[in-house]
Amino acid sequence: MPSFATSPGTRDILAPDSARWRRFQQVFADVVETAGFGHIIPPMFEDLGVFLRVGESTEIVTKEMYDFEDKGGRRVALRPEQTASVCRAFVEHRPVTPWKVWYAGPNFRYEKPQQGRYRQFDQVGVEVLGVDDPQLDAEVIALGMEFYRRLGLTKVRLSLNSLGDSGDRDRYASALRTHFSSNIDALSAESRATLERNPLRVLDSKRAEDAQLIAASPRMADHLSPAAEEHFLQVQTSLRAAGVTFHVDDRLVRGLDYYRRTTFEFVSESLTAAHTAIGGGGRYDGLVADLGGPDTPGIGFALGLDRTLLACDAEGVFGAPQSRVDVFVVDATGGSEAGVICTELRTVGIGADRAYERRSMKAQMKSADRSGAPVCIIVGDDERNANTAILRTMEGGSQHIVQRDDLVAQVRRALGR
Ligand code: HAM
Repeated sequence: MPSFATSPGTRDILAPDSARWRRFQQVFADVVETAGFGHIIPPMFEDLGVFLRVGESTEIVTKEMYDFEDKGGRRVALRPEQTASVCRAFVEHRPVTPWKVWYAGPNFRYEKPQQGRYRQFDQVGVEVLGVDDPQLDAEVIALGMEFYRRLGLTKVRLSLNSLGDSGDRDRYASALRTHFSSNIDALSAESRATLERNPLRVLDSKRAEDAQLIAASPRMADHLSPAAEEHFLQVQTSLRAAGVTFHVDDRLVRGLDYYRRTTFEFVSESLTAAHTAIGGGGRYDGLVADLGGPDTPGIGFALGLDRTLLACDAEGVFGAPQSRVDVFVVDATGGSEAGVICTELRTVGIGADRAYERRSMKAQMKSADRSGAPVCIIVGDDERNANTAILRTMEGGSQHIVQRDDLVAQVRRALGR
């Protein structure tokens, strides 16, 4: 018989990690819903054309898309991110602006899997459509930082840049092309190929041979239009007013083509692996129009759940939640008592679990230990005949006899509820 394992770049998330994932999304929902964001659940696959707008020269589109023809002959793709889907939804439903939405869920990119980089990975994120105000940029960024604070993370650095309006960006790209082309022999082979597709991405090269040329390259700051520069300065002023620490990194280009003006990245200083960017975002003022909608400004971010949890591990914060089982029932009479007691406890909101298959007392006690339940109820023939049960506190191991009809009250007392 063949045996199967998960595909490369995918993982099963087992308990208690899965509970940690859920709590992560819950904390995010709490933070953003109190700031007026509504939940959107876009589909996991869409017309390929939606995602091509992410940028035809990006690797996400050219190399990493899970696209295929469905049985109806439609060209579709698993979403590599959710910003494009949100903009498509905006065009489709035409909601009142400002439209503030948040999302959580998996995305798919055919990348080379490694620690912190998966082919199926989860994000939480927000998008705001219809507002062109630098105060909003600062507020969105501050929300991201607030979420990290709620998780307990303290070593998250914020990098900020402006890519200018589309005209600025094009002028800058052409200045970079001229700079790198006139020194083409000094550039690595990989960066030469990148230069063909997208000169901005050459700035992302971490190769030692490219470092000198990159350091000497023209700067985005010198190519900003007065309006874009003013917007950027106001974002910085608002961030300072909100008490958000940042550093301007004018080499920050990001991996998607739709960005205009404000761009940012959240970087974990506690991660040492290659993938220290735990979140990122920016303005994408042309994307809605690109998808056939009216000219509409937009800004948002997405935070990588998988990577952020690695950062939590590194900082020793936001651990897996405790077991939800409060009581483990050990039944030496055959099992039916355990069934009755579990139902009684669960009905009043007390988590309860038990063993099956008439396991030995020793095996059941082992399961009780493993369950993480702070309280154990033990019933043998003597207890059943006397209408009693033994209540054992797992930590410390003290135990006493309780009356069967007083069991729930006694359990509550032992749990401190
Ligand atoms: P992104 O930078 O491609 O932006 O992804 C955001 C975050 O998702 C990254 O910082 C990283 O933490 C996580 N991530 C990306 N790829 C992987 C992967 N293969 N494995 C694990 N984690 C990964 C976007 O997706 C934009 N949609 C963000 C945005 C929203 N911009 C405006 N609004």
